[in-house]
Amino acid sequence: MNKVVEIPRAAETPPPTPTRRVPDPCAMVIFGASGDLTERKLVPALYYLFRQHMLPEGFSVVGCARTPYTHERFREKMQAALKKYLKVPAEDGSFLESFLNGLFYIADDFSDPKAYQVLSQLLEPLDAERGTAGRRLFYMATPPSFFPVIVAHLGSAGLAKPKIPGKSWTRLVVEKPFGRDRESARELNRVITSVFDEKQVYRIDHYLGKETVQNLLVLRFANGIFEPIWNRRYIDHVQIAVAEDLGIENRGAYYEEVGLTRDMIQNHVLSVLSLVAMEPPANFEATAVRDEKAKVMRAIRPFPLDRLHEYAVRGQYVEGWAGDQRLPAYRAEPKVSPQSTTETFAALKLNIDNWRWADVPFYLRSGKRLPKRVSEVTIQFRRAPHLLFRGTATEAIEPNLLAVRIQPDEGISLSFNAKIPDTTMQIRPVKMDFRYDEVFTASPPTAYETLLLDCMLGDPMLFTRDDFVDLAWELLDPVLNRWKEDGRKGLFFYEAGTWGPPEADAFIERDGRKWQIL
Ligand code: BG6
Repeated sequence: MNKVVEIPRAAETPPPTPTRRVPDPCAMVIFGASGDLTERKLVPALYYLFRQHMLPEGFSVVGCARTPYTHERFREKMQAALKKYLKVPAEDGSFLESFLNGLFYIADDFSDPKAYQVLSQLLEPLDAERGTAGRRLFYMATPPSFFPVIVAHLGSAGLAKPKIPGKSWTRLVVEKPFGRDRESARELNRVITSVFDEKQVYRIDHYLGKETVQNLLVLRFANGIFEPIWNRRYIDHVQIAVAEDLGIENRGAYYEEVGLTRDMIQNHVLSVLSLVAMEPPANFEATAVRDEKAKVMRAIRPFPLDRLHEYAVRGQYVEGWAGDQRLPAYRAEPKVSPQSTTETFAALKLNIDNWRWADVPFYLRSGKRLPKRVSEVTIQFRRAPHLLFRGTATEAIEPNLLAVRIQPDEGISLSFNAKIPDTTMQIRPVKMDFRYDEVFTASPPTAYETLLLDCMLGDPMLFTRDDFVDLAWELLDPVLNRWKEDGRKGLFFYEAGTWGPPEADAFIERDGRKWQIL
């Protein structure tokens, strides 16, 4: 991980210092470069890095896709994308030009082996002319069905092995979803590792690149006050919510195949959970951190399929409203079946069977078309063991909550009880708030900036290891299979723009708890 904390985001940022790690020039080959991810996320992230002198001059991008662009056309498209998606507008002039000059494009069919000769012929001269010297990052931004064929061709074309052993490197970045169940993930892994070593493979989960998600580790392990109470003695339960107000955004075909659980829970939500629940790693290095994450996954109790409804609720949005805007039902979205039983909402209860977390439920909740976009981890502590204030105006006091807001309004707040100023004893919860934007002037890097840089620097800590993926599927496969068998039975509907089906409320209320207000 890039360990530098605060870097001003400006073109005039001073050149690299020993505390800022800058990778050696490399070529990043993006398969599926005409797609949305490249222009929305990848190229803006690369440009931010370039603008902050975090990327070397000779850094090059080779976009690959079937769409017939020339180098020039691709550069124009990317320039337009920068204009559209950069939070801080791209300044024109030589700086931008120098970035754009490092972009190249190959229009070809990547299921055809000949395309890889063309790719080699483009990469070779870049090594000398731009100093990329055989350092190559292959980024899989295509639909997952293309991953195996691309990987196999990279292998046969001799592109998977480092060009100059011991000096140059080759890495493969794989976007999610990594398989659609355990079997397909294993098969994909088998194909990948028949060509690449596991240490060359970077499975990206962009949630792990978010500042606030990384800050979970800092909160827990750089402070003396939290860790002693971060366990079953003091914590009643944990909630992790990842809510989105957006619907499926023209991704009907993809979403029909995948659904909420595969799209969000199998990766993002479980990654966050593993950081909340893991034991302190032996050191702050990739292997130690990833070992601890995998240990959490191993300790999660399998879902009891005979009582699944007590542990899992799924929902799908029907027509609803956002203010005065009418929102269509999921089944009315383009490329979605009118009888679809795909879930757009899921709430799950997990138990982690280890000494730290025995009997502390973790409630996970995620959905599309909820009232707002918000991701938050809430730790609810046990109530004070003795109610001293009985017999006063206060009969019940609220438990303490520690809320880590992942996005938006990134921050942490601790709620505790305070006396209302008055001559009587009345108590109500108040909050102590930390907000990133109030404390730090520099805006945080986007997840893709952090992750792309880590990958070029060869730091896999924030990438998902094969065992984590496998364990996540092992946990969820039985639930997904059961839901598939059940079809319409047990699928609850909710109006778009609401917090999911009422059954999800009943689900947590049965345990005497309630969803935190987000
Ligand atoms: C992606 C999912 O991985 O994450 C999308 O495929 C989802 O469906 C997105 O909208 C959410 O990411 P973020 O960073 O906007 O919370």
